[in-house]
Amino acid sequence: MVKSPKILLGVTGSINIATIFVYISALQSELQCRMHIMMTPAAQSFIPASTLIHSIDGDVFVDLSAKGDFKMPHVELTHWADAIVVLPASANTIAKVAHGFAQDIVSSTILCANSPVIFLPSMYLGMWHKPSVKRNINQLREDGYHVYPALDATSTGNERMGGALPAPQTAASYVKQILTKSSD
Ligand SMILES: Cc1cc2nc3c(=O)[nH]c(=O)nc-3n(C[C@H](O)[C@H](O)[C@H](O)COP(=O)(O)O)c2cc1C
Repeated sequence: MVKSPKILLGVTGSINIATIFVYISALQSELQCRMHIMMTPAAQSFIPASTLIHSIDGDVFVDLSAKGDFKMPHVELTHWADAIVVLPASANTIAKVAHGFAQDIVSSTILCANSPVIFLPSMYLGMWHKPSVKRNINQLREDGYHVYPALDATSTGNERMGGALPAPQTAASYVKQILTKSSD
């Protein structure tokens, strides 16, 4: 793995966005990484970008507008990033990427990306068990994306969450493992 990898964190509209700060902190301490964040409009309705900016050394991108050195963020961020981590990954963003949509900064950037893209899904159990969601997850894997192996309600102890997030340290180790393999 490269020293101080550059992580582009894609944050989407899942209820678990409430825990995002702990995951950012785990990624920073496990990887010693530099970080930019991009947020979907739905994610911004949960947490404003101005709140996230204080926890990283980089910027928070909320749309496709030029920002700082990035004149076309959805293209140039992909050159900058060693990996894109989508956390939490909503069912809607998973569907967008599985079908090649580019409707916001997260899905547009992923459609341009060559670096590894890692999804950590998070959604209610009812969504998780839908055939359409399963199809989309399978499609992501077939297309070469990394999707964190599903956690079910029994293993998380949360009866309502299906594709639940792993513990922050586990998520950070998973990302590190993929970065290490991809730089071999
Ligand atoms: C309170 C609330 C909680 C939600 N939690 C989830 C969730 O955990 N997972 C999910 O996939 N969608 C969840 N949604 C629905 C998404 O926010 C919605 O599908 C949205 O369009 C996602 O957009 P995005 O993928 O562009 O971020 C929730 C919506 C609300 C209002």
